[in-house]
Amino acid sequence: MGDLFDKFQPIIDLRAGLLSTGAEDPFSLVMERVISPTQAVCNGRETILLGTYNYMGMTFDPDVIAAGKQALDEFGAGTTGSRVLNGTYAGHKAVEEALKEFYGMDHAMVFSTGYQANLGIISTVAGKGDYIVLDIDSHASIWDGCKLGDAEVVPFKHNDIEAMEKRLKRIPEGAGKLVILEGVYSMLGDIAPLKEMIKVAKDNGAMVLVDEAHSMGFIGPNGRGVAEDQGCLDDVDFVIGTFSKSVGTVGGFCVSNHPKFEILRLVCRPYVFTASLPPSVVATACTSIRKLMHAGNKRAHLWENSRVLHKGLKDKGFQLGTETPQSAIIAVIMPDLERGAAMWEALLKEGLYVNLARPPATPAGMTLLRCSLCAEHTAEQVQTIIGMFERAGTKVGII
Ligand SMILES: Cc1ncc(COP(=O)(O)O)c(C=O)c1O
Repeated sequence: MGDLFDKFQPIIDLRAGLLSTGAEDPFSLVMERVISPTQAVCNGRETILLGTYNYMGMTFDPDVIAAGKQALDEFGAGTTGSRVLNGTYAGHKAVEEALKEFYGMDHAMVFSTGYQANLGIISTVAGKGDYIVLDIDSHASIWDGCKLGDAEVVPFKHNDIEAMEKRLKRIPEGAGKLVILEGVYSMLGDIAPLKEMIKVAKDNGAMVLVDEAHSMGFIGPNGRGVAEDQGCLDDVDFVIGTFSKSVGTVGGFCVSNHPKFEILRLVCRPYVFTASLPPSVVATACTSIRKLMHAGNKRAHLWENSRVLHKGLKDKGFQLGTETPQSAIIAVIMPDLERGAAMWEALLKEGLYVNLARPPATPAGMTLLRCSLCAEHTAEQVQTIIGMFERAGTKVGII
């Protein structure tokens, strides 16, 4: 009898090889105590956090916490049901209202995670016989949504407008077409030329879905994302987002102006066949989203942090994922997995947590140390971080 686990042997060997050097396991870190959005005790050490998606630092916002506590007291720990049966509480409607206001759109549908939002919307709107044209570097939840829906999937080279256009033109006349893009690509922290891409998609008769998971709250004058920043939000048919990044809790959503959008609540399986979010979670999300509408100062400080860290690391000789700072993510490119893991550990010993990212999550087989900044990082912390990178990089021999 074949062992179904044999297929995992290469990754078992890779992990064992990495740990046999006595290194700390980069994939089983424990946050023993969280002190603030930017500091925690991890693996027994006080650590600056530079690898969370807590871009706007909302996890410890006093109003957000108070709203969650109140909802927990008033509505209990969970809904124990689907949104379409007993799982829609006043809080779920309230957070959908907040999302509609935040984006200035007619409809909002909240899912239990951003992963499920992509899974649900993509698989439901693009099914058998339809075509999905998507960037090859799309997030796993986008790929999984494509698989679930059974549409023809046509990938194109990352951010390549011409390649996208060529593929759109090859689709048979009359077929349904969905173009899927992301505002910020989370591995390298680069943004998409959405304005040009959306124009090409529309000129070729496609509907457009943009995942703004890593831009919500931060990019654009009102924090609506890259499409807002580039002045093309009105041309996006579906915006996907998550509560697990700038909003500071958990959950996912889709907003849209499509007049028939509400029917999705009855036909979208990852919305129907799962329990809805706990009342405390939707209450924290609702409060956080409403505060993010007026977070111009925080957005400005986060941009400043991003610019300073990008320049600081570049000046020290690190190779970065983007020439200029384009988002709150700054990816530091490592020569290989071994030195990437060594650098990750050296930084942890310095008291800094970053994300170690490797294939298949990363493009082009790269190993990356992904830094994600927070609006609550002080200017002093950013300087401390640059010093930590310099010492660790020298020790490991990367700079
Ligand atoms: C681009 C993108 N979309 C969707 C998701 C899924 O979000 P969630 O954590 O809410 O499931 C992520 C999460 O990392 C993401 O990076």
